[in-house]
Amino acid sequence: MPLQKILVIGGAGYIGSHVVKALLENDFAVTVYDNLSTGQKCNLFAAAEFIEGDILDALHLEQVMKNGFAAVVHLAAKKAVGESMENPQLYALNNLIGAINILNAMVNNNVKNIVFSSTAAVYGTPQYVPVDEQHPLNPMSFYGFTKLKIEELMQWYSQLKDFHYISLRYFNAVGYAADGSITGREKNPQNLLPIVMEVATGKREKLQVFGHDYATPDGTCIRDYIHVEDLADAHVAAIRQLLAGIPSQTINLGTNHGTSVLEIIAATERVIGRPINYEFAPRRAGDPAIIVASNNKARRILNWQPRYLNIDNIIQTTWNLEIK
Ligand code: WQD
Repeated sequence: MPLQKILVIGGAGYIGSHVVKALLENDFAVTVYDNLSTGQKCNLFAAAEFIEGDILDALHLEQVMKNGFAAVVHLAAKKAVGESMENPQLYALNNLIGAINILNAMVNNNVKNIVFSSTAAVYGTPQYVPVDEQHPLNPMSFYGFTKLKIEELMQWYSQLKDFHYISLRYFNAVGYAADGSITGREKNPQNLLPIVMEVATGKREKLQVFGHDYATPDGTCIRDYIHVEDLADAHVAAIRQLLAGIPSQTINLGTNHGTSVLEIIAATERVIGRPINYEFAPRRAGDPAIIVASNNKARRILNWQPRYLNIDNIIQTTWNLEIK
């Protein structure tokens, strides 16, 4: 049987490149579509076809979709929460218009299945934890709003057309492929662990810990850090389920387990064997004290479970990149 063809939009990015790796390892034929704005050439795999293109180029997408893909994975988006509040126009354009272009090109060319990268940011401040998929949706950022609107759009398309989706709501993605095959670091990182790594390697003088008076055991925020290879595995499982004819779904991807900022610092210190320079700073606007996923639905529907449960091991896969 010929290999099934998957189009990974945003496949040169941090999560996208790990998804491409997992798909190739599971015998899919992969085409990457990426404009290399944040994605990087060093993240491309020789075994995957690469098309340089922009999701705002609707005509190009229409052409690309004619290649008979069994499914699309869409990870091409702007994703910095703070930036989305300062420049919502950029997020409306890239995330909303870009997604509309992709969905329309799919429907127009009879590409029926999509795995969409959504986010825990659709929930806003949790009313309870762990957060399951029934939790009320109340994004606190424009970024989260864009992802929620795309989920709603996909829901409509799935009712109106022969169109099927699995929306994966990521919690905090961390780590790198354990075999060292993916090396691209994000430029100007905004997330905690890449910033901690910059401090560890001397690129940055110190980490600012945003708030230490939260109602958590050590006063710092608790998040659900999930290894990017676990995220990638879930995409493969989601594609398999879509190709098997499962109804459209929305699924959290997390570990059911929370780690505080100070615990991340302590774990990094254990891994690298020296202290991380940090100071306490004021709270960051919009940060909930604690958000942790319930991943029961992912386990049930995708028959998936995270392989990485130890935060030191997760951080080690990131640190390995720095000591190569
Ligand atoms: C983690 C913790 C910060 C930087 C975001 C999105 C979410 C998902 C993951 C994709 C928080 C603290 C951070 C720093 C700090 N993304 N921190 N000093 O905000 O939990 O989640 O990325 O869709 O949707 O909202 O991730 O890595 O920015 O922060 O103290 O310099 O680290 O306050 O408690 P966040 P993060």
